[in-house]
Amino acid sequence: MSTTTSREVVLAKRPRGLPKPGDFEIREVDLPEPGAGEVLLRTVYLSLDPYMRGMMDDTESYDDPVALGEVMVGGTVGEVVASNAGGLAPGDLVETYAGWRDHAIMPGDRVRRIDRNLAPLTTALGVLGMPGLTAYHGLIDVGRPRSDETVFVSAASGAVGATVGQIAKIKGCRVAGCAGSDGKVAYCLDELGFDACFNYKTAGNPADAMRRACPDGIDVYFENVGGVMGRTAFDLLNTHGRVTVCGTISNYNATEVEMVPDELWKFIVKRARMEGFLVTDFEDRHEPARAEMARWIKEGRLTWRETIVDGLENAPTAFNDLFAGRNFGKLIVKVGDDPTA
Ligand SMILES: NC(=O)c1ccc[n+]([C@@H]2O[C@H](COP(=O)([O-])OP(=O)(O)OC[C@H]3O[C@@H](n4cnc5c(N)ncnc54)[C@H](OP(=O)(O)O)[C@@H]3O)[C@@H](O)[C@H]2O)c1
Repeated sequence: MSTTTSREVVLAKRPRGLPKPGDFEIREVDLPEPGAGEVLLRTVYLSLDPYMRGMMDDTESYDDPVALGEVMVGGTVGEVVASNAGGLAPGDLVETYAGWRDHAIMPGDRVRRIDRNLAPLTTALGVLGMPGLTAYHGLIDVGRPRSDETVFVSAASGAVGATVGQIAKIKGCRVAGCAGSDGKVAYCLDELGFDACFNYKTAGNPADAMRRACPDGIDVYFENVGGVMGRTAFDLLNTHGRVTVCGTISNYNATEVEMVPDELWKFIVKRARMEGFLVTDFEDRHEPARAEMARWIKEGRLTWRETIVDGLENAPTAFNDLFAGRNFGKLIVKVGDDPTA
C-alpha cells in the first residue's frame, strides 16, 4: 500500500481570549499502515463545537487539554480506506473522534458505523450525533419536563438548542427561547414551532423579554449560554423548576472571572434543582435515543439546520463563528469529498 500523508491542524499556542489563527499550525505527517484491529480513515466532515475552546486551555476539566503541538480533537465522519478491523471494510462510513485532520488511523472499536439510509451523512455530527444526543438526554433525563410545562432554551436555533425545542414540543411542552438574530428567531417560531422566541441582542431588558415569552413562568430552563440569561431565568422559575446546565458559551473566552450576584437563595425559595451534565454520561442509552430521533426525522417532526465551511485549513477561523453567532445550526467543516452527495 502507498504511504498516506495526513494534513493536520495542531494547537501551537494556548489562546488568550478568542483564538487567533496564529494559535494553530498546519502540518503534514506520513501515516503508517493500520495495525491489527485498526482502520485508516479519510475524513469527510469535521464537527466544530464550543467545548473545543475549553480543550485549548491548560485548566482542570472533565478531560485532559490538547497538548501543545498535538492535533486538535474533534468528532468526524470518515470513510474507511483500509481496514485491519473485523466488521469494517473499505467504503464504510463511520463516526469517530479523529480530530482536525484529513486522514487518521483509529482503533476499529472506537468508530461507529453510520447507516447511510437513516439521514444525510452530516447529521451524524449534528441532530443524530453528539449535539442531538446532548439535547435528548439533557432535556428528557436531566430536565425531565412534563407535558404542559414551559421549557425555555437559550441559543435556541443552535445545534443543541433547536433540538431541545423540538423535542420539548414533541413531549407536549410550551417552548420558548432566545437567539441572536431576527432570522434565527423567525426560524424557531416558523419552522421549529416554538411558542415564543426573542432576539436577546435587541429585545432590551432581558427580564421583561423573558417574562413576555413565559407568562406562566419557567419549569425547565435549558442553559446553553450562562451569564445574564441564566440569572434572569432563575427569577422566573416556577416552584420545583429545574435548570439543566448544558453549557455557558458566553464565558468560554473570558480572560477574567466575572463577579456575579449570589442568586442561589432563589433555589431555596423555589425548591428548584440545578444540574450539570455531560452527554457522555448517557453513552449506554445513545442508541435507543438515536433510533427515536431518527424516527422523528422520518415522521417529519424533527428537523435541523447546518452551516458547512469548505476546507480543513479554514477550521481555525470558522471555529470562532460559534462565539459570534455566525453559524446557523450545526457548524461543520467539509474536509473531503462526500461519497453520498
Ligand atoms: N454538556 C454537554 O455534554 C454539551 C454537549 C454539547 C454542547 N454543549 C453546550 O451546548 C451549548 C450549545 O452548543 P451547540 O453545539 O449547540 O452550539 P450552537 O448553539 O450551534 O452555536 C453556538 C451559539 O451560541 C450562541 N452564542 C455565542 N456566544 C454567545 C454569547 N456570548 N451569549 C449568548 N449566546 C451566544 C450563538 O448563537 P446566537 O446567534 O443565538 O447568539 C452561537 O451560534 C454550548 O454551551 C456547548 O458548550 C454541552
